Order: sequence, then C-alpha cells, then structure tokens
Amino acid sequence: MRVIFYAAITANGMTAKTDGNTDWVSPEDFRSFSTTCQKIGSIVMGRRTFQEYQTLPPQQYPLPDGLTIVLSTTRPDLSLPGRNVRVVAEGPSGAVKIITASGLSQTCVVGGHTTWASFAKEGLVDEIYLDIEPYLFGQGMPLFLPADFEYHLKLIETKNLNSQTLQLHYRVEK
Ligand SMILES: NC(=O)c1ccc[n+]([C@@H]2O[C@H](COP(=O)([O-])OP(=O)(O)OC[C@H]3O[C@@H](n4cnc5c(N)ncnc54)[C@H](OP(=O)(O)O)[C@@H]3O)[C@@H](O)[C@H]2O)c1
Repeated sequence: MRVIFYAAITANGMTAKTDGNTDWVSPEDFRSFSTTCQKIGSIVMGRRTFQEYQTLPPQQYPLPDGLTIVLSTTRPDLSLPGRNVRVVAEGPSGAVKIITASGLSQTCVVGGHTTWASFAKEGLVDEIYLDIEPYLFGQGMPLFLPADFEYHLKLIETKNLNSQTLQLHYRVEK
C-alpha cells in the first residue's frame, strides 16, 4: 500500500486555527489537492475533518468518485450523499485493510493533524505533499499532533501553485 499525505500549511507549519478555520488556503491548493486525490482514487480522513466536509457544498469535496475512509471510534453512522464512505474504528491498519480489499493499492491521507499523526506513528507514510501558503498564526493545529516518530525525507519536486503558494513533494526514505 502506497500512503500519500497531502496538507496545506502556513509558513510556520500550521494546518488550521484553533477553531478549525482554514480559509487562508488558496483555490490553487484546493485544485491541486483534488486532482491528486482523484488520481490516487481513495482518501482517508479523521472524523472531525469529515464532519467539516458534511457542512460544505458538494463541489468542495475532493474525491467525487472513489473510496473515502473515515477514522472514528464514536460515529459508525457517518455518511455523505452520493459518496462511497466507509467508517473504520480500528485506525490506520483497519483503513489499509479495507482499501486493499477494495482492490486499490494507494491512498491519500487528507488530515487532520490527529489522523496524520496516527498514520505516521504506525510507519504508514510513503510520500508527502505540503502546499505552503503565505500566512502565519501562532495558535492552532500543527501538521502533526505530538507523537513518537522520525523520518528522513527526499525532496522529489517543488512547484509553484500560484505566485505565492509553493508545493513541496517528498518521498520517505526507507
Ligand atoms: N490544512 C489542511 O490541509 C487540513 C486538512 C484536513 C483537516 N484540516 C483541519 O484539521 C482540523 C481537524 O483535525 P483534528 O486533528 O482535530 O481531527 P481529525 O484528524 O480530522 O479527526 C480526529 C478524529 O479522527 C478519529 N481518529 C483519528 N485517528 C484515529 C485512530 N488511530 N483510530 C480511530 N480513530 C481515529 C477520531 O475520531 P473519534 O473521536 O470519532 O474516535 C478522532 O477524534 C479541522 O479544523 C480541519 O479543518 C486541515
């Protein structure tokens, strides 16, 4: 299973303000994010991120077709009209099992920071996309909830998504 992380971050590595606000993310980030998710064909997200998508217009969902796995121990009932959503209580290894059983060999972990940390702790990360927006705030959610892991990365590509947003694409050295 190839596991790819995708995150939009501020210049100081934040993914959301304390109240969950992400309105500093550019439209070009969303386009690149959505294109990448569609190429990969399946996504994994945490219950809180999924519940935010439930409140957004359908065109803001990054994977119109394909499999969405939501990690949750509290809400097995979660769903979204027109989307193929499976809720998994067993964490990253449970998500990988279902994706593999669906005949897929890769997935995009789209956050938030609790979910990225869960995968990173279990050694389940092969590539990382970071879209860096020209913004700073001091209080909020960094890329990872504190957890015990360490990786060496190789920078594969850098790309300007617009004149202000830089994308870094890393591969995990194993
Ligand atoms: N900048 C970006 O690219 C980006 C991307 C995505 C999200 N975000 C932001 O991130 C914020 C949400 O992040 P978050 O860290 O608070 O929440 P999250 O990762 O979206 O969801 C956390 C929840 O997922 C479930 N979960 C996570 N790991 C699990 C595991 N190992 N086993 C079972 N369940 C697990 C748990 O649900 P239960 O409590 O139900 O068990 C947990 O409470 C939102 O504000 C969102 O806007 C930013």
